[in-house]
Amino acid sequence: MPAMTAVDADTRAGGGAGAPAEAVGPLVRGVAVLRRLAGAGGTLSPGALERATGLARSTVDRITATLARMGYVRLDGRDVVLTPGVMELGNAYLAALRLPALLGARADALADELDESVSLAVPDRDGIRFIHQATRRRALSVSFRIGDLLPAERTAPGALFATEWTEEDWSRWRERRAGDPRDTAFPAVPPRPDPVPAALSDEADAVAAAFADRVRAARRDGWALDDQLIEPGLVAVSAPVHDPRTGRLVCVASVVSHTSRHPAEELPATLLPRLRTAVEAMEADLRTAPPPAPGPAPAGLATWTTASKQELGRDFVESLARGLTVLTAFGEGRSALSLTDVARATGLSRATARRALLTHEHLGLVATAAHDDRAFILTPRVLDLGFPPLSRTSLSRLAEPRLRALADRVGEAAALAVLTPDGTEVQYTAGAGTSRVLTVRIPVGARLPAAATSLGRVLLADADGPLSPELARIRTQGYALADEELESGLRSVAVPVRDRTGRAVAAVNVATHTARRTLEDCVRHLLPALHATADAIQRDLHTASRFTRVPMS
Ligand code: PHB
Repeated sequence: MPAMTAVDADTRAGGGAGAPAEAVGPLVRGVAVLRRLAGAGGTLSPGALERATGLARSTVDRITATLARMGYVRLDGRDVVLTPGVMELGNAYLAALRLPALLGARADALADELDESVSLAVPDRDGIRFIHQATRRRALSVSFRIGDLLPAERTAPGALFATEWTEEDWSRWRERRAGDPRDTAFPAVPPRPDPVPAALSDEADAVAAAFADRVRAARRDGWALDDQLIEPGLVAVSAPVHDPRTGRLVCVASVVSHTSRHPAEELPATLLPRLRTAVEAMEADLRTAPPPAPGPAPAGLATWTTASKQELGRDFVESLARGLTVLTAFGEGRSALSLTDVARATGLSRATARRALLTHEHLGLVATAAHDDRAFILTPRVLDLGFPPLSRTSLSRLAEPRLRALADRVGEAAALAVLTPDGTEVQYTAGAGTSRVLTVRIPVGARLPAAATSLGRVLLADADGPLSPELARIRTQGYALADEELESGLRSVAVPVRDRTGRAVAAVNVATHTARRTLEDCVRHLLPALHATADAIQRDLHTASRFTRVPMS
């Protein structure tokens, strides 16, 4: 594993230090914008982006317009905001890696069994990066996200990964520590306290010695502990997961707890045995896993970028769009791709694909495969492009801007709702009103009888078992109306939002007044916009829920 320092010089304008002559400048700058947005939690003003990247305002504007066109950001008033669409980049890495799909369920089951959080992490240079999180909903819980990067020396998995470090890896690690003693390159962890300059080298020596000790212990024991290395109270025990077919260390599974529940010194006796049993089951799963099933390559990307260029002109930076789409050529069963594979999957010319790959390699997002230096693979660093801030979203959060846009477009109130567990009521989970004098205003959290609302009817029409003739018709036509059944003067139309399995998990509607629109008008003029909104919410939901759990409320 080539270990680079986390504070690489790619974030300033231009190609940064050491960029190859063929690097695609706009791609370097676009990636810098995505990383800055992700590092800031997902939202920045163009001015703040300008300052953070050192790019000219006009460049920032063209990059964000291009990213907006790609569905990776939206422009919200004065802010640039990452959208769930950008998770397709991280999804490409996680799908190609396959470990979350193969091992995630075992991690979830262990978390249920122990009632503690369980994570899977991979090495990323001299850090560790989470690829799966089974978190507990409790008041005192750890909240690292999928894609978060932590310094190896402050974690239990890091000690296990460092058992495989070369002398070169160690010296890079020491360099990084010297250049960034407070861990500012790792926004997910609290910074170390500012050392007094005179004590700096003493402290660095102490950290290095302690880490070396922990790595030796990890090599001897085959497991590792984190006794409050990140934060007071936070403890973890970790075990390595090997691929039985290659013998290689592929990831580390950890159970995370709190000293109030499990003091660190007790973890080897309390949590470790069950962690090890789970890891044995994971390794057995890896031994018997069927070969990966390649999904369809993302078709027509080059055609799409050409059309977007024609439409948007100089506001669309085509080389950035093309470069980013190269990352989506990877996926399950497409983990190591040759230049020819990438060109074929994206529809780009070999020359364009090659320059994009070289640029990504320079940025640390792509590497050459260990077994074949003409094959390219994605690195865990792809998760830096927006995954962590979006991996804790909910359906209502991702629906809100879409509902807002719909309400503005049709001049009527729009809402999202789910069915209550007993199926008798709908509960409103998000909404956007209008500024009209007479407007429908149903607060988030409100419950209404399902059978009397358009939202409830589309959801009931998705139920298993025999349906009433009316619900059967709603199911066939794909939308439901409600005409003054709830309240006189109130008229609405609703369509379902389906999860990745096709189940209707929520519904969106537009509500109006009988004096303003006839039923026919609702169907003819509101329904198409409503469908477009539901499709957009559904697309976001499918992208976001591929590797993270998205709560429905
Ligand atoms: C985590 O999964 O959040 C975790 C794992 C190992 C650590 C710290 C945190 O050492």
